[in-house]
Amino acid sequence: GKYRVISTKPMPGTRWIKLLTDQDCRVEICTEKKTILSVEDIIALIGTKCDGVIGQLTEDWGEVLFSALKKAGGTAFSNMAVGYNNVDVDAATKYGIAVGNTPGVLTETTAELAASLSLSAARRIVEADQFMRAGLYEGWLPNLFVGNLLKGQTVGVIGAGRIGSAYARMMVEGFKMNLIYYDLYQSTRLEKYLPIIAYGQFLKANGEQPVTWKRAATMEDVLREADVISLHPILDKTTYHLINKERLAIMKKEAVLVNCSRGPVINEVDLVEHLRVNPMFRVGLDVFEDEPYMKPGLAEMKNAVVVPHIASASKWTREGMATLAALNVLGKIKGYPVWANPNQVEPFLDENSVPPP
Ligand code: GLV
Ligand code: GLV
Repeated sequence: GKYRVISTKPMPGTRWIKLLTDQDCRVEICTEKKTILSVEDIIALIGTKCDGVIGQLTEDWGEVLFSALKKAGGTAFSNMAVGYNNVDVDAATKYGIAVGNTPGVLTETTAELAASLSLSAARRIVEADQFMRAGLYEGWLPNLFVGNLLKGQTVGVIGAGRIGSAYARMMVEGFKMNLIYYDLYQSTRLEKYLPIIAYGQFLKANGEQPVTWKRAATMEDVLREADVISLHPILDKTTYHLINKERLAIMKKEAVLVNCSRGPVINEVDLVEHLRVNPMFRVGLDVFEDEPYMKPGLAEMKNAVVVPHIASASKWTREGMATLAALNVLGKIKGYPVWANPNQVEPFLDENSVPPP
């Protein structure tokens, strides 16, 4: 292969490798055992000749790495993630390096995990599982692990992009919840589902309470009114600690809060305190402020369900993400107009142009 492309981690499937090797690229996959590579590790990997890199959300892609990549003759970087808060796009731009991400292929998988966490928290699945395994079940009781019924309650979505919109649809259609969403922009993505309205008519025709939906004027309206709230914003300066002590305080005492976006969107210290004081308030968390760590006290909270950043972890999606990341890098190296979109992160590809894995 004429071009040297590095992947900082082994990635699922083989299609992404074949795409690259079929088109003049030599693929080198880092097999370093430690989970998170340092900037120095990655500089060593890049070496003196490297055309493109596929990197991970755990890596700090800033000034130092982009200048090293530029020195090695590189022109392309793709994050294997939809989020790119770990990437300094301005620095990449400065060095003429195109940056890509992998939207689209993880929308439904991530929304399904948010739905799973919503149900797990509302119905206390993990607590009940631990109780069974601890041998504590002595027989059925009227008061054992009583949780919340979702039907007829209100689901609140903060950030109605692809993932938030898919989640909203699942909760409304699947569980007949009413919807309130907050986003800076009107979500045509979501509102085009307004088959939700048609669905309401369907329910009515069948003698059921129709579901309702609205776009909230403020985020606080969502926090006050919703029974289940799922966070789907990107992480940037404006969404850092979006959920803090004051905002937790206006939520319902028995609300469920779910986060599959990025940890720092929640002030986790405030959250732990809120969970301690409000035992009926429940959370489902896929992401944490100081990943891989949890803030002190969180692990002891029975009203928290915690999983290790697995929202996009379905086989189809992870292979799709690897494929997109490879196409991003390949597109730039080979000069394909569809993928080579220098200096603009999103979208390299949108969901309408995503090839199936
Ligand atoms: C995962 O967190 C992603 O951003 O793809
Ligand atoms: C992520 O891709 C989103 O827009 O929700």
